[in-house]
Amino acid sequence: MCGIVGYTGGRNAAPILLAGLGRLEYRGYDSSGIALIQNDNLIVRKKQGKVEDLRLSLEREPTASLIGLGHTRWATHGVPSEQNAHPHVDNANRIALIHNGIIENHAAIKEFLLSEGYQFYTSTDTEVLAQLVGHHFHANLADAVRAAVNQVEGSYSIAVIAPEDPLTIVAARNGIPLIIGIGEGEYFIASDTAAFLEHTNQIITLEDHEIAVITPAGVNVSAAGQQHIRKEISTVASNLEQIEKNGFEHFMLKEIYDQPRALEAAMRGRIDPGGINYHEIEVVLSYLENASRIYLTACGTSWHAALIGEYLLEQIAGVAVEVEYASEFRYRQPLIDKKTVVVAISQSGETADTLAAMKMAKEQGAMVIGIANTVGSSVSLASDETIYINAGPEIGVASTKSFTSQVMVLILLAKALGERTGRLDARAAANMAQAIEALPEMANASLGTAGQVQEIAAQFERSRDFLYLGRGLNFPVALEGALKMKEISYIHAEGYPAAEMKHGPIALIDENMPVVCIAPRDDTYGKILSNIQEVKARRGRIIALTSEGDKGINKLADHVIQLPETIPALYPILAAIPLQLLAYHIAVGLDLDVDQPRNLAKCVTVE
Ligand code: G6P
Repeated sequence: MCGIVGYTGGRNAAPILLAGLGRLEYRGYDSSGIALIQNDNLIVRKKQGKVEDLRLSLEREPTASLIGLGHTRWATHGVPSEQNAHPHVDNANRIALIHNGIIENHAAIKEFLLSEGYQFYTSTDTEVLAQLVGHHFHANLADAVRAAVNQVEGSYSIAVIAPEDPLTIVAARNGIPLIIGIGEGEYFIASDTAAFLEHTNQIITLEDHEIAVITPAGVNVSAAGQQHIRKEISTVASNLEQIEKNGFEHFMLKEIYDQPRALEAAMRGRIDPGGINYHEIEVVLSYLENASRIYLTACGTSWHAALIGEYLLEQIAGVAVEVEYASEFRYRQPLIDKKTVVVAISQSGETADTLAAMKMAKEQGAMVIGIANTVGSSVSLASDETIYINAGPEIGVASTKSFTSQVMVLILLAKALGERTGRLDARAAANMAQAIEALPEMANASLGTAGQVQEIAAQFERSRDFLYLGRGLNFPVALEGALKMKEISYIHAEGYPAAEMKHGPIALIDENMPVVCIAPRDDTYGKILSNIQEVKARRGRIIALTSEGDKGINKLADHVIQLPETIPALYPILAAIPLQLLAYHIAVGLDLDVDQPRNLAKCVTVE
C-alpha cells in the first residue's frame, strides 16, 4: 500500500504529481504529500485525508517546480497524521524521500542515528530511512541512497530528491513495484503506470536491488554494486479509458458492469485444447496431473475464489486440493515436497502474505503457479508459470471483476484437468464448454437484476447485520457477498454454510435480520429450502437468489432475485454479481465512499 509518484522535466511538477496521486489513491488514502524544489529549497506540503485536501491546500499557495515527489499513504508505522505523512526530510533539510514498504530494522538504525545526534519528529520507519540517506549524503545523491539501502532490511520502493542536485530523482526498489515512465525530455516514476499513463505508455520496470538515477536527460540504472544495467523499454498494455470512470459514478460500479467483457477475456482461446491461449493451461495441467499435493493459497477475495476452486477441482477433475490463507500457510508447516504444486491467486500480484507463502513453498521445492491479473507483477515473477485472468485494471478497492475472472480461470482449469483425468467425459466437457461460452451473456442478464437489487438495498440500508448463506460451491459466494457488504458499507455481515447456521448464527435471527440465501436449483436446493424455512420460522427477512423460473422459494422469501439457468459450476459467477450490487447500492445509499472505504487498501504490501 501507499502510492508513490515522481516527475522531472520541463513542466510544472505539482499538477502532474497531484493527478498521479489521484490515480494511486486506491493504494492508500489516509494522508498525502508532495516535495518540490523551488529556488534551491525543498518545499514539502502534506495533508491528512484525501489527495483532494492536498490539492486544495496547494491551490491556495501555488508552487513552481520542475521536479517533485508525491505520496499517498496507508498507515503502517504511526497513525495517519500530517506529521507522519510522506515525504520525509532529513534533519538538515537536504533531501526529501517517499517510501512504500516497511523498513524492518528501523529501530536499530534509529538507535544508531540517535547516537549520532539526529532528531526524529515522527513515528514512521520512513523518517529513519530519510535520515539515513541524509547521513550518507556527501556529494553524490545516488551514492547516498546506495549506502542507505545497503543497510536496510525490509521491503521498499523509494524515491529521493535534493536541491543540491536539483534535476535528479534517485529511485530504488526491493520487493515493491516501481515503474519509470519515459516521456520526451521528461520522466516519471510511480508505483503503478496508471499514475502517468496520460503522459506516456513507454516504461522501464525497476527490479529488486536496482537503483535508478533519473534526470530530464535520461535514466541510468545500476545494480547494488554500481555496475550499469541495460534495461528494456516496454509499452503499457492498458489504456487511459480502462483507468477512468467513463461515466460511471464509481470505479466499483464500472468494474461490476465490466464483468461480461472481463469473463470473455478470461476465457478467450482457453476453452479447447486448440485455443490460441491454451498454452499456459496446458503447462499448468501437466504440473497438476503429476502433483502429490495441491494447495491453493491467497488472501481476501482471492481466497474466496480459491475456495470455489477447491470445490471445482475436486468435483470436476477428481483431484484433492487444500486451500489456505497465504498469511497462515507459512505458519502451519505444510507438507511440501518436490511434487507439491502451490497455486497462488492474486489480483494485484503484490500482496505481501501471498508472496511470502510462495517464497516459502519454493524454498521447500514446490512448483509454484500464479493466477494473476497484472503482467510483470511480483506474483508472476515469483511463479514457475502464470495464468493471467486478463480482467484489465481494477481500481475500486473492493474486488469485483477480478473475483469472477479468477473463478472463470479456475473453472477452465478444472474442466481441462477433468478431461485429462477422465472424470469429465467428452459429452459433459462439450456441455460445459457450451455453458462457459454462454456465460458473458448470462452475466449480462445477472446485471439486469440491478434495478431490483437497488430497491432491495433501499429497504435494508439501516440493517446492523447481514447473514449470507450458501451450500457447496455457493458457500464461498456467501463469504464473498458478506465481505463486500463489510468492506464498503461497514455493516457487519457473516457468510456461513447454510447448514451450519443452526449451530450458532440462528441465535441472531429475528425480524430485523436480513438473510441472503444463495439457492440455485442444484442438488443442494431441497436442503437450502429447509434452511430458508428455519430462518422464516424465526421471522428473519429473506433475500433469495435462485434460478430463473423457480417458484418454490416465492412463498418463503421476502425478495427473490432470479438468475439465468446455467450449470452448477458457473452459478457462483452469476450469483456474485447481485451481491456486489447489493453492497454497492447500500453503501451509496449510506453516502459512503465506495471506491475508497475506510482503513482498507487495494494492495496490501505488508505482512
Ligand atoms: C486487499 C484488498 C482485497 C483483496 C486482497 C487480496 O485486502 O482490499 O480486495 O482481495 O487485498 O489482494 P490480491 O491483490 O492479492 O488479490
